[in-house]
Amino acid sequence: MQDLPKNKTWSGRFSEPVAEVVQKYTASISFDKRLAEFDIQGSLAHASMLHSSGMLSKDDLESIEQGLGMILEEIREGKFAWSLELEDVHLNIEKRLTTLVGDAGKRLHTARSRNDQVATDIRLFLRSEIDGINELIGSLQSSLLDLAEQHTDTVMPGFTHLQVAQPVSFGHHLMAYFEMLSRDLDRMKDCRKRLNRLPLGSAALAGTSYPIDREKVAELLGFEGVCENSLDAVSDRDFAIEFCACCALLMTHLSRFSEELIIWMNPGFGFVDIADRFCTGSSIMPQKKNPDVPELVRGKTGRINGHLVALLTLMKSQPLAYNKDNQEDKEPIFDAVDTVSATLRIYAEMIAGIKVDKEAMRKAASRGFATATDLADYLVKKGMPFRDAHETVARAVRHCEEKGVDLGALPIQELKQLSDLIEEDVYEVLTLEGSLNSRNHIGGTAPQQVKAAISRARKRLA
Ligand code: ARG
Repeated sequence: MQDLPKNKTWSGRFSEPVAEVVQKYTASISFDKRLAEFDIQGSLAHASMLHSSGMLSKDDLESIEQGLGMILEEIREGKFAWSLELEDVHLNIEKRLTTLVGDAGKRLHTARSRNDQVATDIRLFLRSEIDGINELIGSLQSSLLDLAEQHTDTVMPGFTHLQVAQPVSFGHHLMAYFEMLSRDLDRMKDCRKRLNRLPLGSAALAGTSYPIDREKVAELLGFEGVCENSLDAVSDRDFAIEFCACCALLMTHLSRFSEELIIWMNPGFGFVDIADRFCTGSSIMPQKKNPDVPELVRGKTGRINGHLVALLTLMKSQPLAYNKDNQEDKEPIFDAVDTVSATLRIYAEMIAGIKVDKEAMRKAASRGFATATDLADYLVKKGMPFRDAHETVARAVRHCEEKGVDLGALPIQELKQLSDLIEEDVYEVLTLEGSLNSRNHIGGTAPQQVKAAISRARKRLA
């Protein structure tokens, strides 16, 4: 049979060539060429199965393997000539293969379709990216552990409603983010598990009449099994949605952390300083040092949330099986991968280089009546009902405000006027350390507990 004109891959069915605008509109090569290595991996496994199941001669298999090897090299060296007319990565590679090895290349597409091919490629791509992201989550967690370890005894004000609430250990505060990241990691692993199934063999939608061996292909590509239903296999993009959901939540966590860093860096707080290489100045205000990285992380979170919504909307109401809509899945996925990977990488470095002003944290913790709850608890332990204790301490706080001092600075006579249950030992709970040390249970902020939490976390990371 004669070679087809190059812009008519789908045979002589059409009476006129595709309009140029349509070609541009429908082509995905500008972005899906990123899947090339995975497309080749998939093709190698498919070809090997075609051979072992009697559909491809040994010679043809060898030609295909050789040709795909050359193509991979061309791509890696940036020498591959991508063509818009050939629409996407799959057709570009197949056409080149045919040019290189002749008829063997034309036999490769036996028993498959681009529909199951692309679904396989994206799964292979995402699986490998998830592995990379999980490593990056681990590095950020280990930066957090290192910093937390240095600050188990560092007192800072804990906030509710962004108002000083109770003193906490800075290490404890950092470990809250460690926990969030642990859940992010679990979610990514869980997503990977569901994603790790082979669509190939579903062909266009209904399966194929050739005697294929899907389990073998799954094994060759490291999939845990095959997708059970051909219609589902070619149309399913749940894994892409799940992945973006995992990314959105991860970025949400980092946006919260970023917001805190921005607040802590504000001279009004002055709790931390981010290394200069993560900040920029102002072209007009010489005094400025702006927390650009945390601000961008906060901003980029919106972008990832957008990708999640884009994919959900892409799949909403889509009838079975494959529809060209699905070509729109790639750019959100690629951008989510790039944004999340870059964010994690920069974050781990930024955290490692953070400077902490313990004095500023301590001062802020001693200013906002952070030990008021401790005084109430003290009174309760001496027999006062909690509601009365709450009221008594509220009066004490008002008294302090009038005098412009903290609770711990009130002389014993004045405290005794509030309640005669108060004795000298009250100062043990009115100090920041006393308050911290008293919360000595699993999950509490006592430095001893924070140290234990860090060592458990190290084991989890290992
Ligand atoms: N470029 C397409 C995509 O990304 C490949 C599958 C095309 N299949 C088709 N029947 N048009 O989804």
